[in-house]
Amino acid sequence: MNKGYTTEEYVSLVNTALEKAAESFGDNVVAEAMKYSLENGGKRIRPILTLEFCRLCGGSAEDALPFACAVEMIHTYSLIHDDLPCMDDDDMRRGKPSCHIRFKENFALLAGDALLTHAFSSVLSCDFAKREPLRTIKALSLLAEGAGNMGMIAGQVTDLQSEGKEISSDTLEMMDKLKTGALIRASAGMGVVVAGGSDEQLEKAQLYASKLGHAFQVVDDILDVIGDEESLGKPIGSDAASGKSTYVSLLGLEMSRIYAGKLTDEALSALEFFGEESEYLKQLSQKLLSRRK
Ligand code: IPE
Ligand code: IPE
Ligand code: MG
Ligand code: MG
Ligand code: MG
Repeated sequence: MNKGYTTEEYVSLVNTALEKAAESFGDNVVAEAMKYSLENGGKRIRPILTLEFCRLCGGSAEDALPFACAVEMIHTYSLIHDDLPCMDDDDMRRGKPSCHIRFKENFALLAGDALLTHAFSSVLSCDFAKREPLRTIKALSLLAEGAGNMGMIAGQVTDLQSEGKEISSDTLEMMDKLKTGALIRASAGMGVVVAGGSDEQLEKAQLYASKLGHAFQVVDDILDVIGDEESLGKPIGSDAASGKSTYVSLLGLEMSRIYAGKLTDEALSALEFFGEESEYLKQLSQKLLSRRK
């Protein structure tokens, strides 16, 4: 098994690889907007999951990095679009003005589109894709499924359709599993696939990530109420202002905290399958539960 990394080392690996990938974004205002939004500031949770699951299943960080960058590009595109006036209408992201504030809506929209497209083209041109075309196809299928209208987009649709309404806890659960859980699930799944892991490893990794992603969104909803704008790098009170349906609006703060804890416990149970080597992910899951950013 390859050696593990600390979170700082993972973040640094991902940031360096993203900078390198950005060299092929082109040379116009959209390329500038893509780089602006991708730059440091994000926690890089999704790429870390790809890299760590690849390691857990016997693969190398070098092989998984293009996939890790791809999921971060898609996540960043989703944030650019999520902040647009026609979506959540938020002016701050990752501690600086949102993409559409800095570059206007038209270029922010195109920067999101281009990041989504580039995510796939950059993986398809990497060395690993030439060496392992079947694994590449399988990993990119997971990514496309997680990001598309059977995954993240479907969750965003329900999020928008639920504004100003009371929705059932089942609808809320489905919405969060899709809008946030689906891409996090794909991140973990890609790591297993790149390493050539077994079907059972893939299943457990996806179960873990689906629970973790769900908990992650519940914590995000909590932080929108009790967080600090400076450390979060995005506005608080945004959900209430746009009449969003969240765990906090449905269950209240205390029940939401308990629920996030329960989901994290379920994620940790799925992780047991991976034994002692999953210690890093165990600690990461717990840190994400008590995060302030
Ligand atoms: C924010 O994601 C949007 C959600 C899906 C909750 P992150 O909290 O991972 O944002 P960054 O990448 O660290 O900025
Ligand atoms: C975002 O959920 C989910 C996606 C971007 C797919 P939120 O709208 O709650 O994320 P933040 O709070 O703006 O980061
Ligand atoms: Mg949103
Ligand atoms: Mg938002
Ligand atoms: Mg939020």
